[in-house]
Formats: sequence, structure tokens, C-alpha cells
Amino acid sequence: MTQPTPEQLQVFLDVATESVLAAGAILKDRWGKLNNIQEKGRPGDLVTEADKLAEAEVLEVLHRHFRDHQILAEESGILGNADSRYVWAIDPLDGTTNYAHGLPLAATSVGLMVDGVPSVGAVYNPFSDELFRAAKGLGATCNRRPIRVSQTAKLDRSLLITGFAYDRRETTDNNYAEFCHLTHLTQGVRRLGCASMDLAGVACGRLDGYWERGLQPWDIAAGIVILEEAGGKVTAYNGSSLDISSGRILATNSLIHDSLSRALLNTPALNEWKS
Ligand code: IPD
Ligand code: CA
Ligand code: CA
Repeated sequence: MTQPTPEQLQVFLDVATESVLAAGAILKDRWGKLNNIQEKGRPGDLVTEADKLAEAEVLEVLHRHFRDHQILAEESGILGNADSRYVWAIDPLDGTTNYAHGLPLAATSVGLMVDGVPSVGAVYNPFSDELFRAAKGLGATCNRRPIRVSQTAKLDRSLLITGFAYDRRETTDNNYAEFCHLTHLTQGVRRLGCASMDLAGVACGRLDGYWERGLQPWDIAAGIVILEEAGGKVTAYNGSSLDISSGRILATNSLIHDSLSRALLNTPALNEWKS
């Protein structure tokens, strides 16, 4: 299959941008006015009217431009043309827990996968008013200025970020041991509750690396393109090529990639942990 031209990618990127900015306006508008916060199944997995309104806005923009593409949206599921090579992965409100508690750290994330490969991404945080964008071969920007990953080359000089999936109470594979181990080996590990901004943070050099399990394609599709285009590296935990449906991601400035991968794979069990 031929790859989309840079001009086509630019069109996709502009539409993704239009959709995240429109959703961001809704998130700002509904801020502090929520009257319907529900759990979606697992304890702590919240959904609000802001998630649904923001998703409807993204869907409206995408439908208007690309009627024959497929869509994978967090709140609406799979929509559109199941045979399309173009699949949009939409997280209308990434950071719902923050948003529902009044912590202003959240974003709308819209990524386009072409033949399964994340190829276009836009992430907009309406609270910091930061718009991260990228498309394959076209570079990555924040508020239209080029961004680049950090130069940190050693794990013990790095600042990392991670997260904990909603199934954490149901599995021992819950990332708690990895969190302790990496906290011990680095200058710190943050948990900010917004996977798309975690990836954007590595892309613009505020953070040096990110790992997480239990993710969905809508959490990371856009952020992957942004990070890769900013010079970062994205793989499975063991360094092999990423399967976005595995839910597991290792994403770094590329310089600490191998050492972070090794540390993750050699994480001692919590009951064996010692300083
Ligand atoms: C969550 C956030 C969080 C991550 C969770 C995600 P949501 O997305 O990205 O940082 O740790 O795994 O599910 O539910 O706020 O869209
Ligand atoms: Ca999410
Ligand atoms: Ca969400």
C-alpha cells in the first residue's frame, strides 16, 4: 500500500487539530460544573458528561471531513468503515479522574493510525493551553514551535513518569513493584494521570521516560507519533517493536531506552525489595 503523502498527512493533522481544540473548549466550559460523574465498570474508572460532550464534538469534526474512515472512540467504541486502513483513536478526556476532582491536568487526544501505524497525532491540554502535534516525517511541535526530547543519558539522572491502570486491584501485575524500583534508581517517578500528556512531556524534554501497562490505543496513539517525531523511541518493555493493542509501552528520549528496559525487566518482586 502506498503511504499517505506529506500533503495528505498535513490535512489529517489539521483536522485532528480542529477536533482537539473544539473538544478542549468543551472541557473548559464544563469545568467545575459537573453534575453527572459515574463509574464505568471498574472501581475508579469514571465517566462524566464532559467526556461524552467532548467526544461528540471530536466525532462531529471527523465525520464532517472523513466519512469513510474507521473510528475507535473511548466512550462510543468502534464506528465507521471497518475496512478502512485509516483508524482514528480518540480519547475525548484523558485524565478524567483529575478532571472530576478539580485537578486541572487533562487533555483531548486524537491519533490517526494508518495500516495500524500511529501516523498523525494532536493532544490539547486546555488548562495549560498547550497544543502538541505531529505527523510522520513532518516533525513535532508544541504551540507551533518545534520540540525535542531531553539529552539525559543516564538513568540515575532521569525523571520518569508512569501510571496505574484501573484493573490494578485485580492483578499483581499492577506496576507497583516497577514504581518502587525505578523510584529508587532515578531522580524521581511522577504519576500525573494523563497518558497523552505523559508522552507529550517526554517529547518536549520535561521528562526523560515513560512506561505503563493496561493502556488502550486511544490513550497513546497520538502521543506515540508526537514523541517519535520529537526524537524519542517507543517500544515494548523488552525493546521489541510496539504492539499498540498489548497495552504496554516503553517510551523514552531514546538515550535511556536500553537502561530503562533492563531495569523494568529486572524489577524485583515487592516482597524481595530492599535498598
Ligand atoms: C487514564 C489516564 C491515566 C492512565 C490510565 C488511563 P482516562 O485515562 O491516561 O494516566 O494511568 O491508564 O486509563 O481514563 O483518564 O481517559
Ligand atoms: Ca485515557
Ligand atoms: Ca478518557
